[in-house]
Amino acid sequence: MPTMADPFSGNIKRKISKVELIQALRVDIASELEAIYLYDAHAHATDDPLAKKVLMDIRDEEKEHVGELMTLMRYLDPELTKHLMSGEEEVKEMMADLGIVEPSIDSIASVGSLLDDEE
Ligand SMILES: [Fe+2]
Repeated sequence: MPTMADPFSGNIKRKISKVELIQALRVDIASELEAIYLYDAHAHATDDPLAKKVLMDIRDEEKEHVGELMTLMRYLDPELTKHLMSGEEEVKEMMADLGIVEPSIDSIASVGSLLDDEE
């Protein structure tokens, strides 16, 4: 079961600062990732084709939410973008060292699933 943090401990009677917004977005992103994990697990735990299809569809919508929130985070926190790009470059260097070719977007069937999608 999700353990949800109180997004606003107490009732804040003011607008939140940019730093607080960034902190809140981190919790939002974690919640979306947890939702992906749960929907994916539940989809793979059932043989009902409709339930599986609906759960996987919702799971994929949650992935889009992660993308939206990460884009918003990069807008609000340019320093984060530098770290993300640095990490991406490190992995790309490791891939190049191992001769791994980065998959194209079109060739990716599913990202974030623990198991292969059975569609
Ligand atoms: Fe979501």
